[in-house]
Amino acid sequence: MDDLKAKYLSAIADAGDESTLEDLRLQAVGKKGEVSLKMRELGKMTPEERQTAGPALNALKDEINSALAAKKAALGDAALDARLRAEWLDVTLPARGTARQGTIHPVSQVWEECTAIFADMGFAVAEGPQVETDWYNFDALNIPGHHPARAEMDTFYMHRAAGDDRPPHVLRTHTSPVQIRSMQDQGAPIRIIAPGRVYRADYDQTHTPMFHQVEGLALDKNLSMANLKWVLEEFFTAYFGTKVKTRFRASHFPFTEPSAEVDIQCSWENGTVKVGEGDGWLEVLGSGMVHPHVLRAGGVDPDKWQGFAFGMGIDRIAMLKYGIPDLRAFFDSDLRWLRHYGFSALQVPTIRGGV
Ligand code: FA5
Ligand code: MG
Repeated sequence: MDDLKAKYLSAIADAGDESTLEDLRLQAVGKKGEVSLKMRELGKMTPEERQTAGPALNALKDEINSALAAKKAALGDAALDARLRAEWLDVTLPARGTARQGTIHPVSQVWEECTAIFADMGFAVAEGPQVETDWYNFDALNIPGHHPARAEMDTFYMHRAAGDDRPPHVLRTHTSPVQIRSMQDQGAPIRIIAPGRVYRADYDQTHTPMFHQVEGLALDKNLSMANLKWVLEEFFTAYFGTKVKTRFRASHFPFTEPSAEVDIQCSWENGTVKVGEGDGWLEVLGSGMVHPHVLRAGGVDPDKWQGFAFGMGIDRIAMLKYGIPDLRAFFDSDLRWLRHYGFSALQVPTIRGGV
C-alpha cells in the first residue's frame, strides 16, 4: 500500500495537464483502478486482516482523491494565469487613426474670420431669419412695391395658400433686413455685423442662388463715409494679411445715400484667382450712409443719429483669399474639392493667429 501511495502521489505531482490527471484517476481509483481492485480483495480477508486493511485502503483512496483535486485546481489556476498573460488589452491606448476627418468648409472658415476681425473693431454679431416678410426685406429698406430693385434682386417668393392675398414671404435677398431688426431691438448707438445666408435666382462663375453676406451697421452722432472707408480698409488688410488694391465706385442703393460699391483687384489665370495683381476687379460689397427713411423704419431718429452700412459677399472674399476661381464648386459637395480647400477643425481663426 505504501508503494501504491508513493507511486500515485508522485505521478499526480508530475502531471502536466488535466487529461494526464484523468488517466491517473482511472488507473488508481476508477472502477478497475488499482486501489479499487485492492478493495475488492477485502472480502477474501480474515476479519482481523480486514480491520486494519479496510481503513488503510479508505485512507489511501481519500488521500489520492484529494491530491487529484488539489492538482486539478492548481493546473486550472496555471492555465488561467497563462491565458491572462497572453490575452491582454490596454484600454488606455489611443484609437487607430483609420476614420477620415471631415474638414471645415471655406465659407464657414471665412465667416469666422470676418467675425473675429469685426469683433476686434467692436462689432457685435446680430441675426435675422432667412425667410423674411417683404416689409423687412424691401419696404423698410426704402424699396417700395413698384421699385425695380425688387425685380433686379431676382427674389424667391414663398407661396401663400390659395385665397390668402397677404403679401408673400421671401427668401431674404440680402442681410440688410437685419439692420432694421437690430435697430428695433437695440436702438442707437449701435455697432453690429450680421453674417448669414441669402438667396437670389442667380447662377454663373461668381453668382450662386444661395450665398453668404456679412452685413455691417454702425450708428452714432457723427459717423461719416470716412469712417466707413477706414473700417473696410482695416478689414481688408487684416483679412488678406497684406494691403490689397481696392476701388470705391459710386453706386446706388435705395437704403443708402450716398452709396458705394467696392471692388478688389485680382487676376484670373491658370484656373486660379489671385488678389493684388492683374487687371481684373471683383465686386465684394455694397455700402453707404444709412438713408433717413431706413433709420425711421428701424425706430431711430434721423435728426439725432447717422451712420454707415455695408453688405459684403462672404463667398466672394473666400474665392479671392484662397484662390478658388468658380463659386459654383463651393456648393457641389465634391469630396475632392472639400478635402483640397477645407480647413482642419483645429485652425480656429483668431486675430492673434493672423486670422
Ligand atoms: C446688396 O445686397 C446690398 N444689400 C448691400 C448693401 C448693404 C449696400 C448695406 C448698402 C448698405 P449687392 O446686390 O450688390 O448689394 O450684393 C452685395 C454683395 O453680395 C456683392 O458685392 C457680392 O459680393 C455679393 N453677391 C451678390 N450676389 C451674389 C451671388 N448671386 N452669389 C455670390 N455673391 C453675391
Ligand atoms: Mg452689387
